[in-house]
Amino acid sequence: MAPKKLYIKTYGCQMNVYDSERMAEAMGGEGYETTERPEDADMILLNTCHIREKAAEKVYSELGRYKGLKAARPDLKIGVAGCVAQAEGEEIMRRQPMVDLVVGPQSYHRLPEMEAKVRSGGKALDTDFPEEDKFDHLKGRPKAKRGPTAFLTVQEGCDKFCAFCVVPYTRGAEVSRPAERVLTEARDLVERGVREITLLGQNVNAYHGHDGGLAGLIHALAEVDGLERIRFTTSHPNDMDEALIEAHGTCDKLMPYLHLPVQAGSDKILKRMNRQHTAEQYLRLIERLRAARPDLHLSGDFIVGFPEETEADFQATLDLIEAVEYGSAFSFKYSERPGTPAAERPQVPEDEKDDRLQRLQALLTKQQRSLQDAMVGRDVHVLFEKPGRLPGQMVGKSEYLHAVHVETSGIVPGDLARIRIESSGPNSLKGVMNPL
Ligand code: SAH
Ligand code: SF4
Ligand code: F3S
Repeated sequence: MAPKKLYIKTYGCQMNVYDSERMAEAMGGEGYETTERPEDADMILLNTCHIREKAAEKVYSELGRYKGLKAARPDLKIGVAGCVAQAEGEEIMRRQPMVDLVVGPQSYHRLPEMEAKVRSGGKALDTDFPEEDKFDHLKGRPKAKRGPTAFLTVQEGCDKFCAFCVVPYTRGAEVSRPAERVLTEARDLVERGVREITLLGQNVNAYHGHDGGLAGLIHALAEVDGLERIRFTTSHPNDMDEALIEAHGTCDKLMPYLHLPVQAGSDKILKRMNRQHTAEQYLRLIERLRAARPDLHLSGDFIVGFPEETEADFQATLDLIEAVEYGSAFSFKYSERPGTPAAERPQVPEDEKDDRLQRLQALLTKQQRSLQDAMVGRDVHVLFEKPGRLPGQMVGKSEYLHAVHVETSGIVPGDLARIRIESSGPNSLKGVMNPL
């Protein structure tokens, strides 16, 4: 029998990317192969994000695009997975009756049973937070060769309840995977060609599946032969313990790049966001990190226009950014999310939010560009990932996560090489091999 085809579209954060790979593997056991073309698919799965209103609404416009396909081929099955599935559940099928299957982020190991149910003409809904560990049910993945970089989820869920955020509701309470399982998965990835692993968690530095916390796990992973680079994301400032700060100075395989969101620079707003720290505490933490690893590149997330944010509060965010100097950053207009405390509070007008976002992004872009330009003339180590746009070009990432293009015939994906940076463009660097 010809294999059935599965088309998965992924929205949202890196954890969804990881989850989509796991869903493809779970369905692989049911005779499904993935396809890049929805029109060839026997099943379409949207792995969705609920973080901002725009993200959530995308799902419905995407579903609308499949109406014709579904009308032409009624045996095409359509599923919604991920955080919108968790947040809206059955409502999705009410709003869009052509959806056959809704599965939350904690239940996707049950996809095979759900698929059987929809194949026989039923609908399937599972948004439980089950007792069993979904990762335990995802064994027997194919040993296919992979690219040089991979994500690996080690922690999931969030107990922080920031006043703006849906994640504690869509992903549930903080759970850590045991270190042994993570190490087994990491060795397997390395056998399949992976040289850099990014450990994932909604609060990855709250990881407690190893006696030594996330730092303990990182040191254990550093012993895995063939694994050259370790990264982790996303961290909460309050979970940045001494051992993890030190690891940035002592673990060679841990890359000098840290995503450490602060969201805002005004203590009033930080308090109303329920972030549980002040701007000053964040700045002190950055100092300690830079003492451990002076060349550390920092990245952050920022929200503008949080309820009751005044111009002076916003200015405090700009001041904090000036003080830190970010190598990269993500910034968003506050978006009201149903069921979160901040949605009930007095809102900042939309044009005000637009204006602040523009000013904030102008500053962040300037910082990002100046740190990137400062790489010119320096040597970096690049892990090459794929061919570049131009013939004969390869592109990879430096330890600071800058994209670096090199024109050479001697490099293949997975190679690590010392590169002298020669120029800096809008989004990437260019360099030459520097074997000396
Ligand atoms: N766990 C991570 C991030 C989760 S969401 C952390 O704690 O940092 C990623 C980013 O989306 C957040 O850092 C925040 O900047 C943004 N975000 C979350 N909820 C939002 C909302 N309601 N409106 C706008 N941005 C939001
Ligand atoms: Fe959301 Fe805050 Fe948890 Fe991050 S720490 S996932 S922003 S509630
Ligand atoms: Fe979005 Fe869920 Fe990730 S809401 S950001 S996909 S945890």
